[in-house]
Amino acid sequence: MLKIGPVQLETPLLLAPIAGYCDLAFRLVVRSIRGDYGGVGLACTDLLCPQAILRENEKSLWLSATNEEDKPVCMQLYGRHPDVLAEAGRWAEQHGATTIDVNMGCPVDKVTKKNGGSKLLCEPLLAVEIVRELVKAVNVPVTAKIRLGWDDKSYITQTLPVALADVGIAAVTVHGRTTEQKFKGTVRLPGISEVVASMAKYHPDIPVIGNGDVTAPEHAKAMMDITGCHGVMIGRGALAQPWIFRDTAHYLATGELPQPLSRADRARIVVQHFENLLRFRGDRVALNMIRQRISKYSPYLQPWPHLRQDVRFIEDVNAFRDFMAAGIEQIQTDEAQVA
Ligand SMILES: Cc1cc2nc3c(=O)[nH]c(=O)nc-3n(C[C@H](O)[C@H](O)[C@H](O)COP(=O)(O)O)c2cc1C
Repeated sequence: MLKIGPVQLETPLLLAPIAGYCDLAFRLVVRSIRGDYGGVGLACTDLLCPQAILRENEKSLWLSATNEEDKPVCMQLYGRHPDVLAEAGRWAEQHGATTIDVNMGCPVDKVTKKNGGSKLLCEPLLAVEIVRELVKAVNVPVTAKIRLGWDDKSYITQTLPVALADVGIAAVTVHGRTTEQKFKGTVRLPGISEVVASMAKYHPDIPVIGNGDVTAPEHAKAMMDITGCHGVMIGRGALAQPWIFRDTAHYLATGELPQPLSRADRARIVVQHFENLLRFRGDRVALNMIRQRISKYSPYLQPWPHLRQDVRFIEDVNAFRDFMAAGIEQIQTDEAQVA
């Protein structure tokens, strides 16, 4: 079973950081969906700016917000200044991080122009220095999330992960695309295999987590079987189906898919997400956010005529609750008729 440093995970399945999506409200939704074989093993915050969390401005405080129900949690930092990252790492540890991840995979210009995110793949000495300083600064495991390289000509799969392990990284996650690819094309499993093989040779105790395009339990198993990776991180697939961890844990353990959640249960998950948003962010943000998120959930709630359009016009917390309650009642009536 997957272990990151001394931290034993219940399953080898991780929730990816997805800026703007994987906040405390959503992580608690994901954690609550468990089956006989568990659910998510580790959930990550979205990328955090070290300078902003050290200033403790309002936005960075809610981005990094966690609580006792949200365990184990990884906090992800980005940036290029080893001393600032080390200080932010100490802050993260004091504020509840179970593990700390360094973002070396973000392809977004705003981040790479400041030489953070996947720009670090082009500056391996700096990447190593950042990890070395962080490992010295904190008492929790430090991990890194990388891509295959900046472009097709500059794969770092056989060099950087090993160099990071030399200075104490506890696990590495590899998104099987290059920076230049951004999110285009499909995930390249041979690239993930290269990371697994080089780690197996020099640091056999350091797990490699594969990432990219997993939207069904079978994809996770195929990624593990083909590449030999020790765990799988799921991002976009979890936004639409937060139950994917429960289903995948079951599939990995038994080779069978579990009984799918009913449509009514999926709708109840949307309600739970909304209630979590209310709890942590208040009425206005909760309504705005659930309006955006409903488009992800919608395909899994169908048939529900005009769901996305109707939610757009709801302006009040109780109106949303009533709308969902009516929808769930309708689903139950439909299901009773089918049965
Ligand atoms: C909108 C969006 C935001 C993302 N934000 C982050 C981030 O904050 N940190 C990070 O390491 N990766 C981020 N990623 C990349 C994902 O964590 C993941 O590596 C990528 O989406 C591939 O996995 P998936 O196919 O399971 O989504 C983001 C991806 C998307 C689409």
